[in-house]
Amino acid sequence: EKDVLILAIESSCDETAAAVVKNGREVLSNVISSQIALHTLYGGVVPEIASRKHIEKINQVIQEALDEAHVSLDDIDAIGVTYGPGLVGALLVGVAAAKAISYAKKIPLVGVHHIEGHISANYIENKDLEPPFLCLVVSGGHTHLVKVSDYGKYEILGRTRDDAAGEAFDKVARAIGLGYPGGPKIEKAARDGDPMSIPFPKARVNDNPYDFSFSGVKSAVLNYINGCKMKNIEIVPADIAASFQKAVTDVLIAHAMHAAETFEIDKLAIAGGVASNSVLREGMRAACEKRGISFYHPSPILCTDNAAMIGAAAYYEYMAGTRHGWDLNAVPNLKL
Ligand code: KG4
Ligand code: ZN
Repeated sequence: EKDVLILAIESSCDETAAAVVKNGREVLSNVISSQIALHTLYGGVVPEIASRKHIEKINQVIQEALDEAHVSLDDIDAIGVTYGPGLVGALLVGVAAAKAISYAKKIPLVGVHHIEGHISANYIENKDLEPPFLCLVVSGGHTHLVKVSDYGKYEILGRTRDDAAGEAFDKVARAIGLGYPGGPKIEKAARDGDPMSIPFPKARVNDNPYDFSFSGVKSAVLNYINGCKMKNIEIVPADIAASFQKAVTDVLIAHAMHAAETFEIDKLAIAGGVASNSVLREGMRAACEKRGISFYHPSPILCTDNAAMIGAAAYYEYMAGTRHGWDLNAVPNLKL
């Protein structure tokens, strides 16, 4: 059978990214132009700056992706693009670029949900992974426990009621003076800390055992810091980082295991920026091993935002017949 080449574009937040993916699982190129250094000046992503930077970079990033893959637009079977959820101005840049190429070269257009992309990142390095499986998606904007019943078929079992897991990492990092983005900095600081030193609460949500809540543990950290200041007790950032990281990852692991057992699913994947956290990974791996569950995770470069994952998702959508027209628009709160 003929190979299917997807040109994928991702611009939902602060990475301008393009990739060429073959048959959904083989990455021929994966170009990411990160704006993190720019946004660090402001302690977080500034939407207007993100959009402007995407416009400056998008054509160059797409050309690099084609060049690195040694292909031209004439070889491309479909263009996959993230159209939501995300920052509307940022999303629009990728969507407009994808539509322009699709129109000019008469290449089919396939809009992709950003979370579907994160989940599909697992297909790239795990050639044997096929639905059904369970996926914990943990990023800066999302915390979803998803049952992937088939390619393109998702059932959300649980989600966060307030902050996303990555958002909590970012806010706590700011509070203990580590800067943005917080996740990797908390992980690094925590290596020198004692995870048992401060018992931060592990929030439970009453009516749905798979839902999450992270604003409580975030507030507990802020209260702890204020309490120390008032009582003139020395703050040990490493201990706070390690204890906070444990509180968050313990809950993520417990809920995922509960769902795997209840729904009798023997495959579990993780995805999104927080999935590159090694404490989460190793804890989840051990919990899965104990229960005979196969554990999957993408390498760090495929956990944080990238276009290869969008190419993987677009391939399965394309094969299922999904096509979008010139009216494809950015949908900031797109539902999975
Ligand atoms: O998936 P992603 O790149 O963007 C979104 O779609 O949100 O995720 C970014 C988030 C940030 O909140 C960042 O702090 C977090 O992922 N993150 C981490 C780690 N690396 C990135 N959180 C915990 N530990 C890490 N090693
Ligand atoms: Zn993301």
